[in-house]
Amino acid sequence: MTQETMKAVGLYQYLPIDNTNSLVDAEVKKPVPTGKDLLVKVKAVSVNPVDVKVRAPKERTENELKVLGWDVAGIVEQIGPEVTLFQPGDEVFYAGSIVRPGGNSEFHLVDERIVGSKPSSLDYAEAAALPLTSITAWEGLFDRLGIPMEKSTNTGKKILIIGAAGGVGSIAVQLANYVGLTVIGTASRPESIEWVKEQGADVVINHYEPFVSQLQALGIDQVDYVFCLNSTEQHWQNMAEVIAPQGKICSIVETDELLNLTLLKNKSATFVWEFMFTRSTYQTPDMIEQHNLLNDIARLVDQGVIRTTVAQRLEPINAENLRKAHYLLETGRTVGKIVLEHF
Ligand SMILES: NC(=O)c1ccc[n+]([C@@H]2O[C@H](COP(=O)([O-])OP(=O)(O)OC[C@H]3O[C@@H](n4cnc5c(N)ncnc54)[C@H](OP(=O)(O)O)[C@@H]3O)[C@@H](O)[C@H]2O)c1
Repeated sequence: MTQETMKAVGLYQYLPIDNTNSLVDAEVKKPVPTGKDLLVKVKAVSVNPVDVKVRAPKERTENELKVLGWDVAGIVEQIGPEVTLFQPGDEVFYAGSIVRPGGNSEFHLVDERIVGSKPSSLDYAEAAALPLTSITAWEGLFDRLGIPMEKSTNTGKKILIIGAAGGVGSIAVQLANYVGLTVIGTASRPESIEWVKEQGADVVINHYEPFVSQLQALGIDQVDYVFCLNSTEQHWQNMAEVIAPQGKICSIVETDELLNLTLLKNKSATFVWEFMFTRSTYQTPDMIEQHNLLNDIARLVDQGVIRTTVAQRLEPINAENLRKAHYLLETGRTVGKIVLEHF
């Protein structure tokens, strides 16, 4: 019996995005689910900086197509024998695992413990914008910074979100606003400043100017939390200056430069990393928390509390459109999310 095939977009070589071979259309074997895996029929995907980082030019080549894409909305097609949370026909959304193939393919395997039920009020493209950034924002705010979810506890507390117009920033601003924090976002252009305000930020400052003087001009001396979503090393000094004594800083962006932790010592300030692939990479016992938090996000979306962060839609899902999306992300100036729909 011949195995079925499916369309996929991926790479064999790691090339600059203006090279047409940087992402190519291909036909590959359709996978079969085992264990706790769902086989998902992919309806829409979104792109993230992680796609660009994995695709970054390098000498290595791949013998088999390397498929990127870590944001999917689709329909469960088949289930593995150990699956208990979903059935064929269920609509789902998820980010997947960085140590497995991405979702830029007609069908995709994913462990059910990191999958949520798609918000019913959103179409597939609107839903595909959310998983990776929502997991990052949720884990960053509530698990790493330890911000309580009860609104009353957060009254009067302030958070500075650096890079607030981006994919993660757009949802982080909404979540921080939802739990009652005063939200200060950073953005540098009229379009991105406007976008951050639309997501619910109370005020916006510029991430290319010193933070302290801008905040003081707004009557703010210090912030209780900083969530850094861009250029950790560039903002390190600024973050150390604005954080309140005993405050907490979380960053999601790796840096090649050494960070001087001593800057935080006199304030007894905490620094913590968030990496949304930690749970799936290390198969942590609490991996199912990503299933739970995606369902919480879906509920908040369906209640009208949180909205999708789609800013641009491309159709169909193919190499040409994915190259376009990667090119836009590489400018570092997109707002919200770029999504692709339909194979
Ligand atoms: N650790 C994790 O789990 C995790 C998860 C998701 C993302 N990330 C990483 O987090 C970063 C942001 O991801 P994203 O999806 O939000 O990116 P994105 O959507 O590409 O972010 C674009 C935004 O970044 C802002 N920006 C550009 N340069 C900046 C700077 N020097 N300082 C502050 N903001 C700046 C821009 O605002 P202006 O145009 O207004 O300047 C733009 O709106 C990426 O490096 C990504 O790889 C990590």
